[in-house]
Amino acid sequence: MNRVLITGAISGIGLATSIYFLQKNWTVIMADKNTDNEIMNQIKEIFDKQIMFIKTDVSKENEIKNLYNKIHSNYGGIDCIVNNAGIITHGLLHETSEKIWDEIMNTDVKSIYFTTKYFIKDMINNDGGTIVNTASISGISGDYEMPVYNAAKGAIVNLTRAMALDYAEFNIRVNSICPAAVRTPMLNPDNIPKYAAANPLKRICEPEEVAKAIYFLASSESSYCNGVNLPVTGGLDIYSGQPR
Ligand SMILES: NC(=O)c1ccc[n+]([C@@H]2O[C@H](COP(=O)([O-])OP(=O)(O)OC[C@H]3O[C@@H](n4cnc5c(N)ncnc54)[C@H](O)[C@@H]3O)[C@@H](O)[C@H]2O)c1
Repeated sequence: MNRVLITGAISGIGLATSIYFLQKNWTVIMADKNTDNEIMNQIKEIFDKQIMFIKTDVSKENEIKNLYNKIHSNYGGIDCIVNNAGIITHGLLHETSEKIWDEIMNTDVKSIYFTTKYFIKDMINNDGGTIVNTASISGISGDYEMPVYNAAKGAIVNLTRAMALDYAEFNIRVNSICPAAVRTPMLNPDNIPKYAAANPLKRICEPEEVAKAIYFLASSESSYCNGVNLPVTGGLDIYSGQPR
């Protein structure tokens, strides 16, 4: 059986990934704190039986517990988790409120702890699975005025390695994707030209391109990849920053 839970699934990368997995005939459980009936109706018209939406705030343990209970009773478990839900903040660290710090850390990082806490036992009992975390290029290098996001995504990168080591003996592979700027509502459209100009490919990434990388890491196509933080950056992360 191919059952995937995708968080942050109603927009951007999560939505493109949900559609890609549906096209590959996976059963997709979409979780998001926001609902969008128009999008869900459109997807259900095409894929009907392979799909379920469960409204979930991934930063809240009781909501992940509820998500687990619903998935366990409907599907008996899960084969893959795409921990994709995330939020960003901009600004200097000393001007960042504790509330924002906690929101980012709880949504981007603690949520992975929660999904693991509730879902991993089923995966172990079902003889394995895969986990794909959505990190970022901002988890492997620093950015100007994004310290909290850098800290959160950096934590995901090393958490991915740690989880990959600990769960390998249960045939559970854990990897992450590290995209550069992707055309989603998270990215301010005014910034697209400057992000495109800075990239070796001279364009930003499309959400469908990230979806394919996530699918690769989620599926048996990547059967010997474990603990990989895969750059999906157009080559931006390999540039030293020195002038020609
Ligand atoms: N867009 C980019 O340039 C970019 C680059 C690298 C990494 N990422 C990462 O990709 C992931 C997806 O972002 P996106 O660009 O598609 O943005 P997006 O804003 O389009 O989608 C994020 C989704 O997560 C959901 N979400 C936010 N907080 C949540 C919560 N507490 N519980 C459940 N759902 C929640 C939102 O409702 C939204 O549907 C994020 O982790 C983001 O950090 C984005």
